[in-house]
Amino acid sequence: MSKKNSARQTRCIGVLTSGGDCPGLNAAIRGVVKASIGSSGIKVIGFLDGFRGLVENRTVELDDRRVSGILTQGGTILGTSRDKPHKMLIGGTRMDMTAAAVENVHRNHIDCLVCLGGGGTQKNAYHLHSVGGIDVLTLPKTIDNDVAGTDITFGFDTAMGIATEAIDRLHTTATSHHRIIVCEIMGHNSGWLALGAGIAGGADVILIPEIPYDLEAVARHLERRRMSGKRFSIIAVAEGALSRTEGEEQSSGKGKKKKESESDPLIVQHDEDGVPFHLVQEPKASQIARQLQQLTGTEARVTSLGHVQRGGSPSPRDRQISSLLGTAAAEALNRGEYNVMVAIRGDGSTTVPLAEVAGKKKMVPPDHPWLRSAELLGTCLGV
Ligand code: F6P
Repeated sequence: MSKKNSARQTRCIGVLTSGGDCPGLNAAIRGVVKASIGSSGIKVIGFLDGFRGLVENRTVELDDRRVSGILTQGGTILGTSRDKPHKMLIGGTRMDMTAAAVENVHRNHIDCLVCLGGGGTQKNAYHLHSVGGIDVLTLPKTIDNDVAGTDITFGFDTAMGIATEAIDRLHTTATSHHRIIVCEIMGHNSGWLALGAGIAGGADVILIPEIPYDLEAVARHLERRRMSGKRFSIIAVAEGALSRTEGEEQSSGKGKKKKESESDPLIVQHDEDGVPFHLVQEPKASQIARQLQQLTGTEARVTSLGHVQRGGSPSPRDRQISSLLGTAAAEALNRGEYNVMVAIRGDGSTTVPLAEVAGKKKMVPPDHPWLRSAELLGTCLGV
């Protein structure tokens, strides 16, 4: 439950960044620090490398000088990790380090721990509150845009810009060579990034995890393009996209995590005793390119954008929403409002109880206007 702690003034906060980095983290840290120090004289302590630094009590004091000049910098000055306080790898063994994390919060006289991160971070922060009993506040960060309770996460806009530029560039070379180019876009298990960049870059086919695809339908779409004189095609595929078979297996609970490539004879071979072994784990985009080349007879190539999408300077929009979230967090802390996520709502911000966010994922809903728009543009969504 969110708590308005009006009896106790917030004097000192801890800040950490956790999970995959993204552009906008430094802008958000700067927002929290400047507004906390400036308006209410709150002391700010940074923990290094996410929850691991909290457990190991590795700190740095964050003052106005330390955050000067970081607005435009990518990455995070605090460092990050994917460590969970309750399942931390210590000397090769997973250990519950919740008590150590909580102890270090008290040792540093921290009234509230501010955690900047994606879905996993929301869960970890909520765990520290519900099990460890400390007060926390979170901000929604991730290029995947899949955090529940916020209109948008910071990092998404920059990544969408990078992926869109890549699709633009792929267009010219695909046109010259009359090829299919399959461009793999991050997003974990959600399709926001592939859909957003796919529409912005004018991809001919967009495949996202929320809509399991049928490659024969995609091949028919490419054939119709060829018949109309268009001899190239760009396919934007989300890294988590699923074929119909994979989708059915996943929803029946049978094929959790199982990829189509696992039963593909080109990928799985058998040793002399008939025991299967994997030659390589074929990435989703190359699997799709190989199959489409077979189905259409058109030469296909693959581009996987990978971590390029997470690097570099944040876009103006990400700088602006990160700053807004950071300063709104400082205002919430000043009010003594804890155990909430500060979220983007319209042009402004709001607070959402962390209990309503932790463990939830925001997927692309079937009636989302972006999907309708893609359909009306003649984009094939894999069905
Ligand atoms: O959550 C952000 C994200 O970039 C996902 O899109 C991607 O699946 C994952 O992180 C990659 O993680 P890592 O940086 O640990 O390889």
